[in-house]
Amino acid sequence: MPSADKIHSRSLLEWYDRNRRRFSWRAAPGRKTDPYRVWLSEIMLQQTTTATVEPYFRAFTQRWPSLEALASASLDEVLHAWQGLGYYARARNLHRCAQIICSRHRGRFPDTETALNALPGIGPYTAAAIAAIAFDRPSTVVDGNVERIVSRLFDVDDPLPESKSRLRRLAATLTPGERAGDYAQAMMDLGATVCLAKKPRCGECPVGHACTGRPRADQLPRRTPRPARPTRYGLAFAMLRTDGAILLRRRPDRGLLGGLMELPSTPWRERPWPWPSAQRHAPGEADWQPLTGTVGHSFTHFHLRIDVVVGHASDGKIEGVWCPPGQLSRHALSTAMKKVVRHVFYHHPNIKFTLPQFGVPS
Ligand code: ADE
Repeated sequence: MPSADKIHSRSLLEWYDRNRRRFSWRAAPGRKTDPYRVWLSEIMLQQTTTATVEPYFRAFTQRWPSLEALASASLDEVLHAWQGLGYYARARNLHRCAQIICSRHRGRFPDTETALNALPGIGPYTAAAIAAIAFDRPSTVVDGNVERIVSRLFDVDDPLPESKSRLRRLAATLTPGERAGDYAQAMMDLGATVCLAKKPRCGECPVGHACTGRPRADQLPRRTPRPARPTRYGLAFAMLRTDGAILLRRRPDRGLLGGLMELPSTPWRERPWPWPSAQRHAPGEADWQPLTGTVGHSFTHFHLRIDVVVGHASDGKIEGVWCPPGQLSRHALSTAMKKVVRHVFYHHPNIKFTLPQFGVPS
């Protein structure tokens, strides 16, 4: 008589064979997986939806079809191709990781969770996902979707995040010794299409017969309320030259949005900036004028509100990169800064240029 966990994994794998989602990074059934593609997709999928990742994944693998090709690219090229995906530390770690694997591992990905976890940008979740999907190691891959599925299957009443380690232990009891990669992806697909956070489709669930939390699935997992996201404030300086070029500068490599280009700005802080204190951060002398409206952008841990002032440079010797408006898309700007730049070009009455186009790769 097979145990309950075996019944669970068998039912789920049978369902997966019929219902798996098709993604560019997934090998066709029965085909060998390429660790490079698995790794690249898992890094891109950290905090990012599959729909957003698809065009980036295709663009990256067309341009850099192998780990060696990516390791030989410049960091600027990689950051630029990453534009719009957010969390730019991922792109820097991706590039560093490719170089480390080429130089210290002779271009071959390590195949254990522990060795993968030691590489830049690869945390416990990604190490488990790569070990399972690329190397069929029986690693337990636990993300928010899996926590939701497991909390329902076992009717776990303790709230998240306190229940995390218990949910992980329960998830590990279900992981099969074979087809671990398919099983991990089956759990992802179940979470994305059936065991939904709101309005779960229990009638379609391949493991519904074993789900003790089913009668109250829509109330699970319970959660301890999170404190509200704070708001931070900044002021950006759009400095223009008579030929229309706009001044950019590069953010320091470390920290949020590290290495990306931006309009010179005040630091972001928890109170709005009155003009006299903001002005001390201006890149130079100019006839600064405020633009109407504020630019808003939300990061995971805070909301950002940026006021913008526009000024015409009175002196050419200013530190930074002067960028003609038509060439803005050549620079790696964060999504927040693209919004600021659009705001400048949209609201400034004397600028007649077309708005810069920042496209996602197609
Ligand atoms: N999210 C994270 N990894 C994924 C994968 N391999 N397939 C689908 N969604 C994912």
